[in-house]
Order: sequence, then structure tokens, then C-alpha cells
Amino acid sequence: MAKESESHLKGRHVLLCVGGGIAAYKALELVRRLRDAGAEVQVAMTAGAQHFVTPLSFQALSGSPTRTSLWDSAAEASMGHIELARWADRIVIAPATADLLAKLANGFADDLVTTLCLATTAPISIAPAMNHRMWLHPATQANLATLRGRGVQVIGPEDGPLAEGESGPGRLSEPEDIVAGLLAANAATPATDNALKGLKVVVSAGPTYEDLDPVRYLGNRSSGKMGFAVAASARRRGAEVVLVAGPVHLPTPAGVKRVDVRSAAQMHEAVFAAFPADIYIGAAAVADYTPRAPAANKIKKSNESLALDLVRTPDILAEVAAQTQGLKLVVGFAAETENVAGYARGKLVAKRLDLIVANRVGVADGGFESDQNAMTAFWQDGERVFAPGPKTRLADELVDLIVERLDA
Ligand code: PMT
Repeated sequence: MAKESESHLKGRHVLLCVGGGIAAYKALELVRRLRDAGAEVQVAMTAGAQHFVTPLSFQALSGSPTRTSLWDSAAEASMGHIELARWADRIVIAPATADLLAKLANGFADDLVTTLCLATTAPISIAPAMNHRMWLHPATQANLATLRGRGVQVIGPEDGPLAEGESGPGRLSEPEDIVAGLLAANAATPATDNALKGLKVVVSAGPTYEDLDPVRYLGNRSSGKMGFAVAASARRRGAEVVLVAGPVHLPTPAGVKRVDVRSAAQMHEAVFAAFPADIYIGAAAVADYTPRAPAANKIKKSNESLALDLVRTPDILAEVAAQTQGLKLVVGFAAETENVAGYARGKLVAKRLDLIVANRVGVADGGFESDQNAMTAFWQDGERVFAPGPKTRLADELVDLIVERLDA
């Protein structure tokens, strides 16, 4: 299968999902343009779309039977909807109606198109088309923000005359512009091959909160962005991914099983509950200490100073590396403010890891909270410096390295 990073659509499997709007007729031309660009195209239609254009028209243009229902026994006997979701290298929804956006943002799977979108690990592009007031409505904009946050590409809509005689933003982008948008996304989209297919990856992410009393806790500034990006990346490479997440406010990456925890003890339990696994990636900033006994009631201020009695938490990463349930690779992160390489190498050896990723924290444009990071990975007899950049890109490069180290 060709890689998504190729600069054209040649040989790519594009699943075009057509929503129920008057602009559905333009999707016919889109099929032609996609095929001209070298893509293999299959089409799925919502019930609404079939009021505007017939499945037969799409079948004639795509060269494949058009899928219209989850309950089509003949279609399910040949290429079932899950197979179709897997077949796709990219899903394009055009036109994407307000209703379809709302369903996708909320994870509905009540028809063929929404089910395909939920079942796929392929990147999704949407080309919205609707009345301009529906487009500008806060509900639609909130749904779009949710979808964008999950990495969905939004192409258009254009501003101009609308079918109902009004004018404003809501026109479906022209088919050639949609294809141009897909080509641009192709150049920037990371690999979605199956290099990790058949492997189970457990990723920890985010901070842990250690409760002092019912209102206060000891925590840290981890946002979870790095770990979530790694989980998403591993999933795109075909792995089954369990993401054990501390308290963060991030959407769950598509196709990833998420387990939310609060404390280091809960994270420890959840990580081991997710085993057996093939790869463990410890990106969480786990508290090293926790109160010996959290107070049952709010601690009142009395003296000038307050001493906390803290005890060590379990070192999840070291315990994972020490166990022998068939793990192929154990990857740690090291968050350091100084002597980054020295401390990271020390942890690689002390915790008996296969790989450690060092990043500097306490800096403005990297480490905690930022969307950016700068990292160096170390293993027993090697190291790799990653060019500073977005955590999403660095996560992909780290997963590339993990794939390499699996074969080493
Ligand atoms: O979440 P972000 O805002 O995106 O920030 C990302 C990050 C900076 C948190 C991340 O890239 C990172 O460096 N995570 C590890 C942070 C950390 O706790 O580092 P450490 O050097 O204290 O721990 C070393 C390793 O041991 C880590 O893999 C950690 O998960 C693990 N550990 C630590 C303590 C403990 N009790 N159990 C552990 O498993």
C-alpha cells in the first residue's frame, strides 16, 4: 500500500461519503476529479443524499457499486462496512451537512456513513455545505472545532450565492479545490501504514494528581499532548492502543481505547490491567511522591509552616521493564531541566529500558503544555536528535524509531 506522504493521489483508496444536500450533485464531478488524480474511489451515500443524486450515477463514475445502507446483505457479504472502513486510505465527506457534522462530532454510528467514519483509522476530510445561518450557528462551529481537534481536515465552505437564493458562507468548495486540499493534506499527513499491525501498545500520558485532602492535590504541568500524540500515531500505524490518561482535557484519538485515572497508584493499576502488551510507552509525568495518608477533611491553616509526609509512588516504568510478559519494547520519557542527556542515559540504564526520550522542561517552547517539543532519543548504543517542532510530528518520528528498534 502506498504511503500517505506521497505527493499525489495515485493508487490511493479514497472513500467518498456523500451527505444529503443540494450540493451532492457536485460530488459526481468530484469522483471524476479524484479518479483523474489517480485515486481508486468508492462511494457511500447517506439516505438524504439519495434524494438528490442516484447511487447509480456514482456507480457509473466510480466504477464500483455505491454503498447506501448498513443493512445491505449483498454488500455486507462481499466488502462489509468494516472492510470498507479499513480499505480507505482517506475518507472525504462532500457535501458534509450540519447534521452530519453534529453526528460525527458526537460519535454517532446510526447509518452507513457515520459508522464508516467511526470505524476507520484513515484520515478524514470534510467539505461542508449548508445554509449560511446553519454554518455560522454556534452549535455547528462547536462541532467543527471538535472535529478539527481530532485532526479532521476541513475544506471550505466558500462564500457566495446559496441554493435558496441567499448569499453567505456555506457553498461547497469546487471539486478541483477539494482535490487540491486533499493533495495538500497528503503532503502534510503522516504515515498510516500497518507497521504496528497485530501489536498492542500501552501509552501513559498526562500528569497524576496526588490528593492531600478533599480539596487540594499535588500535581504537575503535563497537559497530555505528547502522550496523546504518540497514542494517535501508534494507532495510525495499525497498533491496538490503550491510552492510560491522567487528568487532562484532550479528546481521545480515533480508534484508541482510553482509561482515565487520577493518581499514580491508579495509573499503576490501569497500566498493568492493560497488559499483556507488546510495547509500553511511558509519556506520563507520574508523581514520584504521594501523601502517606490524605486528610479526610480539609487541612486547616494553623502554624506558619506545614510539613507534608510523602512516600514514594510505584515506579510504573521500571516495574514494566522488569516484568517479562512478552514485551518487545519499553520506552520511557525523561523530563529534565538540566544535564538532559546525562540524566536520560542514567534512567535508560537504571530502569532497564530499550529506549528513552529526553525532553527539556521548564522552557517556553517545549516540554510541558506547549504544542511544540524538542527531543533526543537514546538507546544502548545509539541516539537520535529530532528537529524541534510540533508534538504531533515528533510523535510520528518517535513511532518511526520504535518501528526501527523493533526490528533491530
Ligand atoms: O504532557 P505534555 O504537556 O505534552 O508534556 C510532555 C512531557 C514533558 C510530560 C513528556 O514529554 C515527558 O517528558 N514525560 C515524562 C515526564 C516524567 O515524569 O519524567 P521523569 O523523568 O520524572 O520520569 C521518567 C520516566 O519514568 C517517565 O517515562 C515516567 O512516565 C516514568 N515514571 C516516573 C515516575 C513513576 N513513579 N513512574 C513512572 O513510570
